[in-house]
Amino acid sequence: MEICRTKAALREARARLGDEGAQVGLVPTMGYLHEGHLTLIRRAKAETDRVVVSIFVNPTQFGPTEDFDAYPRDEARDFTLLEDEGVDAVFAPDPSEMYDPEAETAVEPTNLSRILIGRLRPGHFRGVATVVTKLLNLVQPSHAYFGRKDYQQLAVIRRVVRDLDVPVEIVGVDIVREADGLAMSSRNVRLTEEHRAAAPALHDALQEGRAAIEGGRTVKSARKIIRRVLQGAQGGEISSIDIRDADGLAQVTGRPEGPVVILLAVRFGSVLLIDNMVADPR
Ligand code: PAJ
Repeated sequence: MEICRTKAALREARARLGDEGAQVGLVPTMGYLHEGHLTLIRRAKAETDRVVVSIFVNPTQFGPTEDFDAYPRDEARDFTLLEDEGVDAVFAPDPSEMYDPEAETAVEPTNLSRILIGRLRPGHFRGVATVVTKLLNLVQPSHAYFGRKDYQQLAVIRRVVRDLDVPVEIVGVDIVREADGLAMSSRNVRLTEEHRAAAPALHDALQEGRAAIEGGRTVKSARKIIRRVLQGAQGGEISSIDIRDADGLAQVTGRPEGPVVILLAVRFGSVLLIDNMVADPR
């Protein structure tokens, strides 16, 4: 496995990997890899000839009061895991390599990046969309893989690729969960024991919410049920409960007629957990 620290090294590796018309898959990550990331990588391995993984804790997608410094990192362990998966190249640059200090260009869908998580985390999706665009330009993959865990992020990236004619197929991969239902996340290790025990309430709430919507309840009534389940989570503070159109994330009221996505954000101490589930009343 080739380890690239600079953009120049990455471009060289990319040229070698892509000779004879091989298709290259890209899996962007912020490292501290878990089974969710590895599932994306295995999907890429199955669908493309060569796989490039990026590990970059992207400073521009963290707000000034967010957990950039506290974000968990373990590069040596990550490299071993990637080697074991048969990844061809890993791109792990420093922020100073990734960003020109004089850079003044960014990528940001105007509406999609300002709603939901974008309201809770102003500037977050601008950072995500910009770094992912840079990674797509550097690697020029045929396919790039993203988890449905970050539902709005996936929607933002699909929007960017469509609006800017980026020649890549974006592949969405289902959420990978712990045995008790908690969605896997690099941030889970930062939960206290008590918060970790309470966190599966997000999954319970999503399941009850889905059953309510699919049983013909209104959005308002489903939200009430979800709130009640989340209120049972010791130490959890509800940031948001949203039920939106599953495709464009538009607001939905009354009894949904088509697929909706239930999106939750719950804060445990300094850790913001997000999760989601699609419900289809048809
Ligand atoms: P990160 O949180 O490391 O996640 C990398 C990819 O793994 C994302 O596409 C995310 O949706 C996916 N993922 C994480 N947990 C998952 C789970 N439990 N099941 C399925 N997929 C999961 O998301 C980011 O990094 C960054 O914002 C990034 C896209 C790399 C841009 O900096």
